[in-house]
Amino acid sequence: MQMQTPGREKIVALLQSKEIGRDVTVKGWVRTKRGNKNIAFIALNDGSTIHNLQLVVDVASFDAEILKLITTGAAICAKGKLVESTGNGQPVEVQVANIEVYGTADAETYPLQKKGHSLEFLREIAHLRPRTNTFGAVLRIRHAMAFAIHKYFNDKGFVYVHTPIITGSDAEGAGAMFTVTTLDLENLPRKDDKSVNFAEDFFGKHTNLTVSGQLEGELTAMALSEIYTFGPTFRAENSNTPRHLAEFWMIEPEMAFYEIKENMDLAEDFIKYLVRYAFENCADDLKFLNDMWDKELLERLQSVVNTEFVRLDYTEGVEILMKADQKFEFPVSWGVDLQSEHERYLVEKHFKKPVILTNYPKEIKAFYMKQNDDGKTVRAMDVLFPKIGEIIGGSQREESYDKLMARIEELNIPLKDMWWYIDTRRFGTVPHSGFGLGFERLLLFVTGMANIRDVIPFPRTPNNAEF
Ligand code: 4AD
Ligand code: MG
Repeated sequence: MQMQTPGREKIVALLQSKEIGRDVTVKGWVRTKRGNKNIAFIALNDGSTIHNLQLVVDVASFDAEILKLITTGAAICAKGKLVESTGNGQPVEVQVANIEVYGTADAETYPLQKKGHSLEFLREIAHLRPRTNTFGAVLRIRHAMAFAIHKYFNDKGFVYVHTPIITGSDAEGAGAMFTVTTLDLENLPRKDDKSVNFAEDFFGKHTNLTVSGQLEGELTAMALSEIYTFGPTFRAENSNTPRHLAEFWMIEPEMAFYEIKENMDLAEDFIKYLVRYAFENCADDLKFLNDMWDKELLERLQSVVNTEFVRLDYTEGVEILMKADQKFEFPVSWGVDLQSEHERYLVEKHFKKPVILTNYPKEIKAFYMKQNDDGKTVRAMDVLFPKIGEIIGGSQREESYDKLMARIEELNIPLKDMWWYIDTRRFGTVPHSGFGLGFERLLLFVTGMANIRDVIPFPRTPNNAEF
């Protein structure tokens, strides 16, 4: 790994350095300072690794006033000699010759002065929580997963497509959207029937933040054949759960010439690749999270990589749930949308491995899904994971113009917002499929964190957009 950086060495590289005795410069934030009147030990972290670098300070050779400024949270630059560490826990340490304090952190008021804060408290100081071990680990893993996603698709020849954030359509037909407007909210222009006149708005029509890049993704897949999107999506559903965000990131591959089987194969291969990548590239951070928060994390990750996912019809899934020896909060019968408790029963109790559920009732799925010949179900696929429930939602798409139009009319979807989407079925339509992986749901799984607010730097949820 290339770890060169201007004016300093990164701690991750120094901790592996074999060149003992040389002069080094390090910069970072003080995690702890301890010692006695002769010698001080400073644990320094620069975010490049979960591990701290130990700085050893001979107190008599430094100005006492400067040393007093070095408290937990202070930012410093230290120069000195890299030596083998005599203490256990670290291979090397730095015998400090010179220290510069960039910024102090008053011990009385710095909120992270002490260790062991609850995750709930840390959410209230989201501006500082990246400085904790836990969030450092989560953010490094988040980065590694984003990188691995691009690598996976790039290596397969998929084209990364940027779909719009502001749209005029409702891709999922769920209606939970944030309006985007420049209209004067105190003085809204009205039509004769008193409804808001969006013709006077910035785009000359009602627009909103996208809930999914899929529809535009399909347009490009009809030319480039294999594409993916990876961007922020927004849902104004009022779900205050540990698995829902109002602003989350989604990865949506869309493939021409794939039917549902190939779609499932890709989803399974993709997610196993990502977990394997985390194992190989984030070992220290995963071990920390395993020891700190979730003792079964590593085991659970390993089991997903090594197991074949179950593939099951919705109808069979419902039969299993109806026979289950467990009382559910929401009763199950054919036709209901499955709740997280049902999904987790199938995955954690019944099969004890990930499940891909297919062929859902058309009434509970989006208009674009390919209709099966039974007239009742569509070729949907949800990938269900332990601890998470739904991690991926996708389907084969309805490529027949007539069948798609019939469904759009049945559901009263306004054609004026959708004509461009339907055009793909008029000109060179092909069988095609795709899915959406919720990036933060993936991170919940990979990090073992229990609440989705703890895997995104600045979560947006109902009543919460402070930072
Ligand atoms: O199942 P969904 O709604 O599917 C779509 O949006 C399709 N257009 C995807 C496609 O076929 N291209 O959402 C996909 C995934 C879910 O499985 C879940 O992981 C995640 O997005 N997700 C959320 N993650 C966090 N907060 C929310 N409010 C989420 N809603 C969905
Ligand atoms: Mg879904």
